[in-house]
Amino acid sequence: MSVTNFIQNNKDRFLNELLDLLRIPSVSADPKFKNAVFAAAEFVKESLIKAGADTAEICQTKGYPIVYGEKIIDPSAPTVLVYGHYDVQPADPYELWDSPPFEPVIKKTEEHPQGAIFARGSADDKGQFYMHVKAFEAMMASNDLPCNVKFMIEGEEEVGSDNLDKFVIDNKEKLKADVILISDTHMISMKDPSITVGLRGMAYMEVEVTGANRDLHSGTYGGAVANPINVLCDMIASMKDENDHITIPGFYDKVAELTAEQRARLNEAPFDLDEYKKKLKIAEVHGEKGYTTIERVGIRPTLDVNGIWGGYIGEGAKTVLPSKASAKISMRLVPDQDWHEISKLFEDYFRSIAPASVTVKVKAHHGGSPAVVSDSSVGYQAAEKAMEETFGKRPIPTREGGSIPIVALFQKELETDPILFGFGLDTDALHSPNEHYGVANYFIGIETIAAFFKHFKTLSNQ
Ligand code: BES
Ligand code: MN
Ligand code: MN
Repeated sequence: MSVTNFIQNNKDRFLNELLDLLRIPSVSADPKFKNAVFAAAEFVKESLIKAGADTAEICQTKGYPIVYGEKIIDPSAPTVLVYGHYDVQPADPYELWDSPPFEPVIKKTEEHPQGAIFARGSADDKGQFYMHVKAFEAMMASNDLPCNVKFMIEGEEEVGSDNLDKFVIDNKEKLKADVILISDTHMISMKDPSITVGLRGMAYMEVEVTGANRDLHSGTYGGAVANPINVLCDMIASMKDENDHITIPGFYDKVAELTAEQRARLNEAPFDLDEYKKKLKIAEVHGEKGYTTIERVGIRPTLDVNGIWGGYIGEGAKTVLPSKASAKISMRLVPDQDWHEISKLFEDYFRSIAPASVTVKVKAHHGGSPAVVSDSSVGYQAAEKAMEETFGKRPIPTREGGSIPIVALFQKELETDPILFGFGLDTDALHSPNEHYGVANYFIGIETIAAFFKHFKTLSNQ
């Protein structure tokens, strides 16, 4: 039986297995879900064994385990390393979900006329890495696995992959591969397939501003003592100028500027601004002056508040000058910014703009490097051919705004440019309520991955 026929004949099972995986609430950020995260690792290991792996193991780390599995058909054949993550973002706020986040349901949407699976992790990244497990199974079952394959599926991607660097560095020989496949990004649309060649990096900070040593009556003290919420808002506001340019000194020093030609090529990607606004129900877009939306997301750095709190937020009104205010602030970075350097620049600047009426604390959370990968490697060419075969159209290279810090580490430690072979859409509501993944995307992804193996083998032999 051909790979394609095997996929066709096993569609229901392939879908149901993914639904089972999605029922496991493997939220890495919240210790309440600890057992579920371990259970998801076990599920992944079992699924690799069932698909035909020679070995699959749960590799313990200081945090959540990394699942490693492999099938070596011939040591002289090319080797594909697949990376993905079985952990998911918290599902909060639960009340904004139309159906419970860990009880997957399939519903049709405008973008997904053939139905989409609604569940936390459906697109990010369970539905996407599981395509590789199923493509592997289909190739094994059809006696048509042309390359060796290694899987490394981690459980801490959504919390910064703290233990992955060490694992990669300690296991370079084990992970040695000719190409790395990662399906954890988007394509432009089903009509316009694309392959991601750039991801932004990240520096994530938390700040706390303290005024008086206790909450104060806002009548007795208001107007005379600093309100840390007001101060924090002023400080944040001053970190961007009227052109939405970030004012932290030195912030742009290492930003790689693209040539006019590179920018023009980037902007050739199909993009409908009106449609974009309509989908988000916004009257206007917003961002750095002088750049298009594609550029603002793909090649420019940002500074955004992710959360801000302090004072009274309960029912009714309470008059109070709070003692403290806090915020979580992330900066998306682009080549060649260094997240350690940017974290330090942020901290120094934040301290320097604090008025004497408050004290501040600054803490750096995780970070990650931006990355640009080759759009002409053998792996990229094989991915192009595979997509051309299944979508009937040559994919275009794009640069995305999200971050996968491990990509830069792979480039450095394994000296291999990963192929960012994502099949989701940017409307799939990653990290949001009602996250979903198209059923058609899932199946075309499985087909395309199998086609990749075939083309990669052929191109590697030339
Ligand atoms: N899959 C995403 C990254 C992504 C999303 C890339 C959309 C391209 C398009 C990944 O799981 C993720 O959420 N990464 C975090 C990284 C952070 C935890 C260091 C992100 O981008 O916020
Ligand atoms: Mn992801
Ligand atoms: Mn994510």
